[in-house]
Amino acid sequence: MEQALRGQASPAPAVRMLPTYVGSTPHGTEQGDFVVLELGATGASLRVLWVTLTGIEGHRVEPRSQEFVIPQAVMLGAGQQLFDFAAHCLSEFLDAQPMSKQGLQLGFSFSFPCHQTGLDRSTLISWTKGFRCSGVEGQDVVQLLRDAIQRHGAYNIDVVAVVNDTVGTMMGCELGARPCEVGLVVDTGTNACYMEEARHVAVLDEDRGRVCVSVEWGSFSDAGALGPVLTTFDHTLDHESLNPGAQRFEKMIGGLYLGELVRLVLAHLARRGVLFGGGTSPALLSRGSILLEHVAEMEDPSAGAARVHAILQDLGLSPGASDVELVQHVCAAVCTRAAQLCAAALAAVLSRLQHGREQQTLQVAVATGGRVCERHPRFCSILQGTVMLLAPECDVSFIPSVDGGGRGVAMVTAVAARLAAHRRLLEETLAPFRLNHDQLAAVQAQMRKAMVKGLRGEASSLRMLPTFVRATPDGSERGDFLALDLGGTNFRVLLVRVTTGVQITSQIYSIPESVAQGSGKQLFDHIVDCIMDFQQKQGLSGQSLPLGFTFSFPCRQLGLDQGILLNWTKGFNASDCEGQDVVNLLREAITRRQAVELNVVAIVNDTVGTMMSCGYEDPRCEIGLIVGTGTNACYMEELRNVAGVPGDSGRMCINMEWGAFGDDGSLAMLSTCFDASVDQASINPGKQRFEKMISGMYLGEIVRHILLHLTSLGVLFRGQQTQRLQTRDIFKTKFLSEIESDSLALRQVRAILEDLGLPLTSDDALMVLEVCQAVSQRAAQLCGAGVAAVVEKIRENRGLEKLAVSVGVDGTLYKLHPHFSSLVAATVQELAPRCVVTFLQSEDGSGKGAALVTAVACRLAQLTRV
Ligand code: G6P
Ligand code: BGC
Ligand code: BGC
Repeated sequence: MEQALRGQASPAPAVRMLPTYVGSTPHGTEQGDFVVLELGATGASLRVLWVTLTGIEGHRVEPRSQEFVIPQAVMLGAGQQLFDFAAHCLSEFLDAQPMSKQGLQLGFSFSFPCHQTGLDRSTLISWTKGFRCSGVEGQDVVQLLRDAIQRHGAYNIDVVAVVNDTVGTMMGCELGARPCEVGLVVDTGTNACYMEEARHVAVLDEDRGRVCVSVEWGSFSDAGALGPVLTTFDHTLDHESLNPGAQRFEKMIGGLYLGELVRLVLAHLARRGVLFGGGTSPALLSRGSILLEHVAEMEDPSAGAARVHAILQDLGLSPGASDVELVQHVCAAVCTRAAQLCAAALAAVLSRLQHGREQQTLQVAVATGGRVCERHPRFCSILQGTVMLLAPECDVSFIPSVDGGGRGVAMVTAVAARLAAHRRLLEETLAPFRLNHDQLAAVQAQMRKAMVKGLRGEASSLRMLPTFVRATPDGSERGDFLALDLGGTNFRVLLVRVTTGVQITSQIYSIPESVAQGSGKQLFDHIVDCIMDFQQKQGLSGQSLPLGFTFSFPCRQLGLDQGILLNWTKGFNASDCEGQDVVNLLREAITRRQAVELNVVAIVNDTVGTMMSCGYEDPRCEIGLIVGTGTNACYMEELRNVAGVPGDSGRMCINMEWGAFGDDGSLAMLSTCFDASVDQASINPGKQRFEKMISGMYLGEIVRHILLHLTSLGVLFRGQQTQRLQTRDIFKTKFLSEIESDSLALRQVRAILEDLGLPLTSDDALMVLEVCQAVSQRAAQLCGAGVAAVVEKIRENRGLEKLAVSVGVDGTLYKLHPHFSSLVAATVQELAPRCVVTFLQSEDGSGKGAALVTAVACRLAQLTRV
């Protein structure tokens, strides 16, 4: 089993382990009318069923069914003949059904080893069990059936799914205390299936969810694994069978063969004079004369000696009393071995299931089907007893299938139809998040237009704020500086020592929501308290070091140390600050707190601090990008293009405040109803629309709203809305980073969603993952379109054919999300192919940058003083 799961080719594993694309066990909510065609489960017969699923747990509608005997010639003839026969039986059955026959959906139970490449695509590997039609092996049997139905032309039937009978048996299992995750069939043939972790099935290269695997254990021992157990009777039977050398294990267990084994043993004993006084009969010597039913009866103690006598007489024998007992003994031996072998194989499946899930013990239900299980008096009890011996750590309950798997096949068809419908709804919901090249290029062009307007001081959603930072550090800066870093996830106070290198000592302080949304006085008093605490801890009390203030909010700067707060963003909303010079607010708080006079030299935006911080290592770093709680970018613009700042030569860093891009409605074509919900629920509705599509404060909320929507459509969580999922901000953006991590995605998804108290199936988990991927991908692409607009602006500013430039980046989302940075880089490359853009992740945050800006200002101030 494990060799086959790993995809080992040689030596070929003794069992095939075929994935079936059935990825979930029934919900119980499946409903609808389905036609089921069963071929191969019960040997020389074909069954058609009309199954109605009510979707109400425990409420069953008895399926209507009809069995058709397949002529031997058809079982051994041309494949087309077999499928035409099936299509004919289908229409004969449907003719007799009173219900409407519009939009018929069919589940095809095809009980032979097949390579499945989808729920409705399956290629026959080899025939078993008395079938040997030509022109079918290697073909897609669904297509052969569709073609036959078409040829027949009576009904328009959509073949939605093809299922192995073991899968139908498992899926037909009544919902009970424990999930039914194993299906066992012992009829003419034998086989089992079970729910394996998809990541263990090499051919699937899918590391998420579970998938039902058809073991195809009938072929076990082909390589001699069971040599010592095989008897001469087994070899004789195999030798005379339709497929010598194949299905050796099945030929010791399957109902098609048990009668023959008994016959061979009886004939052998008769020849040896042990039975029937050494007499035989033509019937006893002819193959296939003893059937499963005979064995079951003869072995059944309640049938009694008289019945055995009668059967043997029918075979032309005249048994004595001891013969009858001996014959019963032979039947019991053959069937006991079959049941024990079957149990050994099932125990192997159970321990595989247990180890695959890394569980100490396993609680599982096994659905059993097939006439050997159903009709053979002792088969199941021997099977169960032996399993308990061989797999003691597995607590197994056996659930007999009620209708031979027909309902199970309808369940798979219903699941297939439901999954297809859910997938359509999921795709419809996520389609607006899948931005194509043209849409991204349009955003880039829109942003470029808004940049130019903003620089000219015209109405634009991009304020393009001059920062008075004219130069990046040149390495000659020296000294100790204090720095504050406010506006990201954490508020930090830093001591930055600039010598030949930069040493940083910092401390994180929290800004409670009550302070961030309290009064401005309270906020700045809190900031000064933190500074004083830091100074005291660093032994700096009484010292008045130059201070650089990273203030990550839109400020109109009138100078390096003057910044008028235009509006709060990112959940801040302290009163009496907007329209104020925040450096002043800080100085007033210092005075109020009688703290040592601090020399506030510069106020910088975190994008500027980040650019400067990275620029210290890489002078080509002329752009700063933040993708964290909020998002924004700055870059070095030609002064000649900056209206309102005197001078035409040289450059100045411009804080774009791109979070507000689209506040003029220019992004409406991309905005979804989920974006609108997040915006309306925010403390600044209508503002920061670009930010609300990209940054960490909002992505989790967008995902939550999509999950609520998909739940209301019944696509997720069985349509059950939970209080938790209706709670704002309960789906953290960091969950996206965890969920989308390549390694253990599904376990992460499960753990996270179970923590949120959500009832979860693996399909749900996969869909949540896709929702997260769509939302974060859009965010990264939009961010990439923004960066592309900036680098192209710089390239054209400088009249360059090609531009090589670096971008200093910071922010939790950009740093922690597994794919965000590469998606941004890919989008920039696609939209700005003439720019070679290097992204530098800032290690020390923008506090260092603020200190460097301060150091440059101090250096320049010194120069003017001398
Ligand atoms: C770093 C910088 C801050 C910036 C923050 C943004 O921490 O030092 O100045 O505001 O990144 O990211 P965040 O994810 O914390 O919002
Ligand atoms: C087939 C299996 C089937 C089993 C029980 C075997 O011969 O290979 O696909 O599940 O019989 O019907
Ligand atoms: C602010 C910017 C800041 C960005 C990243 C936005 O909400 O308006 O000033 O640069 O967040 O922190």
